[in-house]
Amino acid sequence: MATLTLKELRKQFTPEVVPVKNITLTVEDGEFLTLLGPSGCGKSTLLRLIAGLEQPTAGTVWVGEQNLNAVNPGDRNMAMVFQSYALYPHMTVADNISTSLKLRQVPPAEITQRVRTVADKLDISHLLGRKPRSLSGGQRQRVALARALVRKPDVFLLDEPLSNLDALLREQVRGELKQLFESQNRPVVYVTHDQIEAMTLSSKVAVLLDGLVQQLDPPSRIYTHPANKFVAGFVGSPQMNLLTLDCQGKVAKLGHCEIPLPPLAQVPKLIDLGIRPEALSVKGSEVSDQELVIGGKVFLSENFGRETLVSLRVEGSQDVIRALIPPDQTWNPEYTKLVVPFSSLHWFDAETGDRL
Ligand SMILES: Nc1ncnc2c1ncn2[C@@H]1O[C@H](COP(=O)(O)OP(=O)(O)O)[C@@H](O)[C@H]1O
Ligand SMILES: [Mg+2]
Repeated sequence: MATLTLKELRKQFTPEVVPVKNITLTVEDGEFLTLLGPSGCGKSTLLRLIAGLEQPTAGTVWVGEQNLNAVNPGDRNMAMVFQSYALYPHMTVADNISTSLKLRQVPPAEITQRVRTVADKLDISHLLGRKPRSLSGGQRQRVALARALVRKPDVFLLDEPLSNLDALLREQVRGELKQLFESQNRPVVYVTHDQIEAMTLSSKVAVLLDGLVQQLDPPSRIYTHPANKFVAGFVGSPQMNLLTLDCQGKVAKLGHCEIPLPPLAQVPKLIDLGIRPEALSVKGSEVSDQELVIGGKVFLSENFGRETLVSLRVEGSQDVIRALIPPDQTWNPEYTKLVVPFSSLHWFDAETGDRL
């Protein structure tokens, strides 16, 4: 039972490459924290710092009251699952799973028992005598997970564990992972560039960019209240509409529309407006004064089956807005009006990108 804490962690490889600049965060027992960000943003480096596989340039890693900076990776009692699985090819599945227990001189009878329990849980009991090369990708992935779970570590670290699986299997294993780790009651740090994994698995998400945490919040808050333009554009599919608009007085100008600005201390010259595609709908006969109406021509529609994504060129501008609408919804091909509640608009400072 322990809390994982990172304090002002920094890793500089060269003067130009500083993938972790200054990161402070806490993961409690039973919390599932996902580090989410684009490829190369420093997710794996941060995980390796926690595991002790990299030494920080500055800052500290703690489990409970213990500072781990001087503790070797092998003595940190953390289990790591790598994207590559990193199984020993010459060993059987059972030996791959039990290696860490043998190193810790756990009694053989207990090892057998623990391997059996975890293999049952992951549905790989029938594979215990096999070598990794005779397993499918999904089976190898399970063995890598079993090897982590069998250790009963203080902290679980997982680096893109699903990215080598095909889409269908990934969806299945994602659900299993969620159930598996809900019962572990240990801090879990999970790295992914996949926003669906981050949204579905996590109790908290840390969105990373430029070596810094851009936002640390539960997934629902990341989605409904993105802290800045980067988070707004990175999380959500289809992507949030983001338009840079001129401000005049207390309104922003979008084509012929004048959109009332939220209360601001100072009105900037330019402002970014964010609208989620699913917040828009095709206008019926009734429009309330709580809604923004945007007119234009639909020049593209893409049928996803469950819904249709329509792209509208805003009347009087070059801006494009995409809306997700029900598949049976019709629209006038010459001129369509989309509506969105004012309460669903997101505003960002065009210069800093910060949420206003
Ligand atoms: N050992 C290293 N030496 C120098 N640069 C490194 C090293 N490890 C990673 N990097 C660089 O640090 C940056 C972040 O890498 P990484 O943490 O692997 O990103 P991510 O996991 O988010 O894709 C990349 O630019 C990468 O090239
Ligand atoms: Mg990585």
